[in-house]
Order: sequence, then structure tokens, then C-alpha cells
Amino acid sequence: MVKICCIGAGYVGGPTMAVIALKCPEIEVVVVDIAAPRINAWNSEHLPIYEPGLDDVVNQCRGRNLFFSTDVEKHVAEADIVFVSVNTPTKTQGLGAGKAADLTYWESAARMIADVSKSDKIVVEKSTVPVKTAEAIERILTHNRKGINFDILSNPEFLAEGTAIADLFNPDRVLIGGRETPGGQKAIKTLKDVYAHWVPDERILCTNLWSAELSKLAANAFLAQRISSVNAMSALCEATGADVSQVSHAIGTDTRIGPKFLNASVGFGGSCFQKDILNLVYICECNGLPEVANYWKQVIKVNDYQKTRFVNRVVSSMFNTVSGKKIAILGFAFKKDTGDTRETPAIDVCKGLLGDKANLSIYDSQVTEEQILKDLSMKKFDWDHPAHLQPSSPPTSNKQVSVVSDAYEAIKDAHGICILTEWDEFKKLDYQKVYDNMQKPAFVFDGRNVVDANNLREIGFIVYSIGKPLDPWLKDMPAVA
Ligand code: NAI
Repeated sequence: MVKICCIGAGYVGGPTMAVIALKCPEIEVVVVDIAAPRINAWNSEHLPIYEPGLDDVVNQCRGRNLFFSTDVEKHVAEADIVFVSVNTPTKTQGLGAGKAADLTYWESAARMIADVSKSDKIVVEKSTVPVKTAEAIERILTHNRKGINFDILSNPEFLAEGTAIADLFNPDRVLIGGRETPGGQKAIKTLKDVYAHWVPDERILCTNLWSAELSKLAANAFLAQRISSVNAMSALCEATGADVSQVSHAIGTDTRIGPKFLNASVGFGGSCFQKDILNLVYICECNGLPEVANYWKQVIKVNDYQKTRFVNRVVSSMFNTVSGKKIAILGFAFKKDTGDTRETPAIDVCKGLLGDKANLSIYDSQVTEEQILKDLSMKKFDWDHPAHLQPSSPPTSNKQVSVVSDAYEAIKDAHGICILTEWDEFKKLDYQKVYDNMQKPAFVFDGRNVVDANNLREIGFIVYSIGKPLDPWLKDMPAVA
């Protein structure tokens, strides 16, 4: 029987291991983390992350062959396969700050594996790491532990938050990279046998280590690039009277382009896209490829531009000032069906509006007040350095910000509404009631194109929808940067 241990009980480690445990009842899976509150939550009725279908999977196998523990060393020592799914944030200081991946957590996990191991192990990179990380990890493991064999595999995770369980049940592909030696190939086969419990053979791709590591960064860069491409088009649509949804549909029907990931929005967010592209940019620069680095850097610049453009649109539409005006923020998570706020565009939009002295009333059914206040007071890139590893600082309260538990409360007496997450709930609001309770003129700035703008205009709203022909009111306002 194979024993699996996963270091890191986060958005990736928790759901992936729960699904492995469900699909492989004969394998014991233990997820370990140094964060006791996180492990306690995994062992409770209130899991630490919100993901549709996750509760059900955990309930079926927790206590049977799925366990969550803070006893990191014991479970690593007992395992045959050790997945490492710890944070790989952007470095905030020193060489490569603001771009390179900070492998502090990875390195400390590798050193610990070396320290406690008494038997051969397969060590699997589940975290997204720079290409060639496996080589560094291999050195740490072999130099610190003579006589024990470690095989390193790269098995990057492609799940998307919000659909993690569906993605894990039915992945487009599972990617396993390993050394091209007999030992490396044997390790690949062992991991492949785990996934083969439910993933068809043709969807398990086996490559060399470096291809697997780089493929994860490349996949995120391509995905983010599509969003920045359509967002760049959205600005041109607004300037010309074209409608970005029609343009997306028209280009998406070309089978070479395909229809997915072509929705214009206020910008992409999430813990991965920006961090992984910055990391890719850094790797290109380090390999003497400045043109390639600049190409990918532009994807992030357009994303920043889209957020700034949105804020400018709000301010310029409302007579060039939002000072002292109440603005309702509907949605704070980086997308629907997750409570995750890491790198959510809502942070930059809210900071932009606060910079213009707006009063914000924020509502998101899945995000706590504490999280929102923390996000709005944190420095860029600090979010992915686990709080328990940092000196603790309580979230700073902000007189301009209130966090409420109901959309109608957020909207009451507001001058404008910014929809920043595409929660279904916001499509179904009673917009007549909303209008009646707002200051006039009443503005809706739809950063996710979820509302029917024409219906809202009939009620009396002035509506801005990303990339759509502009409301006559907005056309008369000063041009937006
Ligand atoms: P996370 O922050 O939710 O979880 C990481 C966990 O690792 C934390 O709970 C932390 O306490 C723990 N940890 C850190 N150092 C540790 C150590 N030495 N020993 C034990 N536990 C330790 O991060 P998340 O989102 O799960 O991401 C993990 C990795 O997976 C990152 O490299 C990320 O880029 C990658 N990834 C994330 C995806 C996502 O959608 N969130 C998707 C695909 C990959």
C-alpha cells in the first residue's frame, strides 16, 4: 500500500488530496500544515476554503483514508510519496524582488523532508515553481541525506478555483515530469498509477522535469494573455462603438481561437496569474531574453491599465469626483464561487476610489470583514507570505470603508454601484428597489458585464458595461485614460 503525505493544506493541497483519497480508497492520504488553525478547520464542519462540492468529498473520506494533521514530520517520515504544495510567492526583498519566486517555504519543506526521512521517497512538486527548481530541491535532499534515494517529480496543478472539484474529477490532463533515468521513469509510473484510478491513460502526459515545470508557467501566461487581449479590445470597443461580447463571440467561433476565456472584465486576479507571469518574466531576463520578458510583462501592464481605466471611468462619470460619496462595492472575491481574494481586482479598484476619498460599502457573501480590511491595508505581494510566519498585525480599520452583510444595505443611499465579482446574486437583485434607494443620478459600473444594461437604463440608471457601447451620459464625460 502506498502512503501519501501532502505538505501544505491550502487551496491546492486540500482539494487535490481529498480527491485522491476519494478515488483511491486503498491509499492513506495525510495533509499536513504548520498552520494549526487551518488544520483545525479541515478537521471541522467549516472547511477553511469554499469550493463547490468539496464538503461532500471531504465528508466521504475524512477519518477513513484522508487525514489532516499538524504533525508534519511524523507523516512525512512515514510516506512513500510526498507532495509539496506550499506557497511560492513573489519575492518582496532582495535579488529579483517584485518578480522572482520566493522559494523560502519550498526550501524549508525540502530540508525538513531530508531531516526526517528514513526510507526512499518520491517528492512531488505540486506548487508552481520556476523551471529548474527540481534540480535545486534534488541537491538539498541528496546533500542532506546520504543513503536515501529521492526521486523528484513535477506534477503541477491545473485546477481553477471555483471549479476545483469538477476540474480534479475530470481534468483536461494530468502532467507528470520526471528524470529520464530508470529511477525517474519508475517514479513517474508510481504516480501515474495513482491518477490512473480515475483519469484515462491518454490524459496523463509524461514529460521531462523541465517541460512539466515550464508548462505550468506557460499555461498561466497563455490564459492571462487571453484575458488581457480581450480587455485591451474592450477599451477599443468603448472608443469605437463596437460591443466586446459580439467581438468575443465572433472571434471565439474560429476553432483556432475557441470561445473560452474571452470575457472582458475589470481585470484578472487570483493568486497565480500575476505571480507566475512575473516569475516567467524574471526567468526570461535571467536567461538573456529581454524581448520575451517584455512580451509577457505587457500582459500584466494591460491588466493594471484595465483596473485603472475602470476607476477613472467611475470618477469621471460622477462629475470628476467621488469625494465623500458612498459607492457600493458588490463582490470582492477575485471571481464567483470562491471566497479567495488574493490579487482580486477589487483591491486595486477600492484603493483607487479610496484615493479619491470615496466612502465604500462593500458586500461579498463569501468574504469576511476582517479579510477585506486586511487586503485593503496590505502592501503588494505581502498576501502570499503566510500570516503565521509573519509578525502578526491586526487589520487596520478604515473610516472610509464599511463591510456589510447584505447587498441592499451596501446600496442604500449610494451614488454608484461597482460590480466587481460576477456572483449570480447580482443578476437577480430587484433593481427597481435598488434604484429607489439610491442617490440620483444613480450609476452602475458593471465590471463583469452581469446586468442587463438596457433594462437598468429603462429604470433610470446610468450604466457603464465594460467594452459595450457607451451610455450617452458617459460619452459626454471627459475621456478616460
Ligand atoms: P495556500 O497559501 O492556500 O496554501 C499553502 C499552505 O502551505 C499554507 O497553508 C501554509 O501554511 C503551508 N505551508 C507553508 N510552508 C509550509 C511548511 N514548511 N510546512 C508545512 N506547511 C507549509 O496556497 P495554494 O493556493 O494552495 O497554492 C500552493 C501552490 O500551488 C502555489 O505554488 C500556487 O502557485 C500553486 N497553485 C495554486 C492554484 C490555485 O488556484 N490556488 C492552482 C494551481 C497551482
